[in-house]
Amino acid sequence: MDHFIYRDSELHAEGVPLSRIAREVGTPVYVYSSGTFEGHLAAFDRAFAPVPHLVCYSVKVASNLALLAKVAKLGLGADIVSGGELFRALRAGVQAGKIVYSGVGKTPAEIKEALAAGILAFNVESGPELAAVSQIARDMGKKAPVAFRVNPDVDPGTHPYVATGLKESKFGVPVDEAFGLYLRAKDDPAIEIVGIDCHIGSQLTSVAPFVDTVARLRALIARLREAGIAISHIDLGGGLGITYLDETPPSPAEYAQSVIGALAGEKATLIFEPGRVVAGNAGVLVVQVLYDKITPGKRFLVTDGAMNDLIRPSLYGSHHGIVPVARGQAAPVTVNVVGPVCESGDFLAKDRPIPPVPQGGYLAVKSAGAYGFSMSSNYNSRPRAAEVLVEGDSYRVIRARETREDLIRGETL
Ligand code: LLP
Repeated sequence: MDHFIYRDSELHAEGVPLSRIAREVGTPVYVYSSGTFEGHLAAFDRAFAPVPHLVCYSVKVASNLALLAKVAKLGLGADIVSGGELFRALRAGVQAGKIVYSGVGKTPAEIKEALAAGILAFNVESGPELAAVSQIARDMGKKAPVAFRVNPDVDPGTHPYVATGLKESKFGVPVDEAFGLYLRAKDDPAIEIVGIDCHIGSQLTSVAPFVDTVARLRALIARLREAGIAISHIDLGGGLGITYLDETPPSPAEYAQSVIGALAGEKATLIFEPGRVVAGNAGVLVVQVLYDKITPGKRFLVTDGAMNDLIRPSLYGSHHGIVPVARGQAAPVTVNVVGPVCESGDFLAKDRPIPPVPQGGYLAVKSAGAYGFSMSSNYNSRPRAAEVLVEGDSYRVIRARETREDLIRGETL
């Protein structure tokens, strides 16, 4: 469900024509629908209403303060992977006690910051990390709340770059090793065991890998119970996929039903770290057509948006729907949609039938709300795009377009 719809042949975000935003704010511009973003968060939360649970929005996915403020307003938590994300989440008003912190490379400074803030859990991903967290907690006279991130060795059936729960992945610890770490943590006065965690990958389109994962976690939880170790939460990470092209992922309600069923009998609070399913279809990237370039081999629509603005097509070969902001009657033509960046890997779409758009016209790159702006860069010294949030019939710029001065901030001659 999203709020990007044509009215009188003009693509709107909720009540605002995208062409108006493009004219007034310039392009490339990320436009988010507040209704879609909040609606997705609420739907996910509602799906788990029958059981004790906490939804921790995954900050890396779309990290703008205005979006995080929506998360905070709904009383939800955050999943972070860096001190920078902790800073953002707290600044946006997310309660520290609802923040979980994953990642294989937490630095001592980041661990200190998170301990001082009073986060809900460190999702610890190795023995050496446990030692570091323990030492820092002792030095600070605190007890660190810890969950171990288990690597269940389950194939999520996604792009290899975003599969995180396979044996060969850098993430988490294998089940047997996790058991050993729990025993170590139990005897450590600087550690409080609070939960168990996993995240097996992203853009999953079936529930089976989640259900397999739950079975493996339950076996470990049973062993822990026998060893006198109780956990108060089970964090299943994020990963629920969305429709970019023709994928048919389970809805949050279907996902919840399977997961709740697979966990029947467990008393622990469930934690989830959804990202893409919340933000993905809540955002589009609007770009302007600079040139219609026809070569003997191809026809290119050259736009002012490029791989530095949205890297997913170049990096993963991902499909993003691309539609004209002003819909006409003409039949589609097959084009490569490319940007100005100096690489042949710079494309937003290849061999894509798109209705002709005149020079100066606008295109909307769909499903760009997740891992769009947050993965953008200044490559080719291109200022990063503006971000806009639409709320009903009005919009506001929630991140100004970067300026030339922003490009050289901190540099010296
Ligand atoms: N929790 C942890 C520990 C994660 O590493 C991730 C994503 C999430 C939650 C959120 O997963 P989601 O619900 O969004 O699937 N840049 C890639 C995706 C990378 C995923 C990284 N981890 C892309 O553009 O597809």
